[in-house]
Amino acid sequence: MAARKLIEGIWEAGARDKERKLFDELIPLPDGTSYNAYLIKGSEKTALIDSVDPTKTDELLENLENLETERIDYIISNHAEQDHSGALPALLERYPEAKIVTNEKCKEFLLSLHPAIGEEQIKTIKNGDTLSLGNRTLQFILTPWVHWPETMLTYLKEDKILFTCDFLGSHFASEELFVENEDEIYEAAKRYYAEIMMPFRPMIKNHLKTLEGLDIAMIAPSHGPVYHEPSFILEAYEDWVSDNAKNVAVIPYVSMHHSTKAITEHLARALEKRGIKAKVFNLTETDIGELAISIVDAATIVFASPTLLVGPHPAIVYAGYLVNALRPKTRFVSIVGSFGWAETESERIKALIPNLKTELIEPVMVRGYPREDDLKRIDELAEKIYLRHKEAGLVKN
Ligand code: FEO
Repeated sequence: MAARKLIEGIWEAGARDKERKLFDELIPLPDGTSYNAYLIKGSEKTALIDSVDPTKTDELLENLENLETERIDYIISNHAEQDHSGALPALLERYPEAKIVTNEKCKEFLLSLHPAIGEEQIKTIKNGDTLSLGNRTLQFILTPWVHWPETMLTYLKEDKILFTCDFLGSHFASEELFVENEDEIYEAAKRYYAEIMMPFRPMIKNHLKTLEGLDIAMIAPSHGPVYHEPSFILEAYEDWVSDNAKNVAVIPYVSMHHSTKAITEHLARALEKRGIKAKVFNLTETDIGELAISIVDAATIVFASPTLLVGPHPAIVYAGYLVNALRPKTRFVSIVGSFGWAETESERIKALIPNLKTELIEPVMVRGYPREDDLKRIDELAEKIYLRHKEAGLVKN
């Protein structure tokens, strides 16, 4: 796929990957992804910002060739993960004069990930340092933990373009260089935030504050399209990282013989009757990314599981583990489910989510298929959730 021009002297020369189905062998990619690499020609020096996944090395080299790139002076490495650093050894072979420019921590990671890269091929910079390309100047902003400890951003001062690598990106393989359909990219960016950035919410809050002082005309991430309206993605992030939860209860469930399904459906109806939006996910069918998006701002999560081998169903264990790792801003958690002869699963589900700083509302466990009395207990749980949401100012009546 051909390189795409941002402005005079700057191109996106990386690759789109529409076929890729999973990232980290975990995250579903319904829209594929892209590995953006930006070529910047200054009056004296040429820089490349980030590279591509190793599988797309040839495409990057071909694009650089087509742009008549005879020399690269600097390869800026904003992040060491292989989807951005994978082509570095091949780039250094083709452009032996090039120096990788990055921070000390990223250097350490690059050396450990790429045996072919030598220490002498890396120039390190500190937060705030600048690098002149002649008529263009790059400035480096260290932003650790979005989403590795070494992540940084590069700001092109004269053109006011902020290159953010993973931060503010989206897994979206688009032919269009710039965001065309904001609704579509909002969903993709929220999914990306949920799966990759959400665990680092406190750090992101600080980084967004740092960016307030910067005059930004364009945000160019290394996944997904470029934002020519930076406020679109910056305001979305402000909202996602804020402490504001929404009047929503997410219910991930599994049911083997319909008992937990009946409990889940009754709970969802009881919550909806009280004005709370219930989002139900059957874990045997759902795309785990959809679940992740839903917990970005839901005030409540209720795990619903049958008992299997004297514990929660493995699909719920998987969901609990992920939710715990993603550290959403959830305020309230509860557990419902069905058991045959012994109830131990609620304690085990509780033990899965120590990272959630939430109030645990008393679980409701039902023996066998739910009867009238059991459904009443589910109604009581819905009422408790409603009262918590009301106290938190999330429901009006
Ligand atoms: Fe897109 Fe953390 O790599």
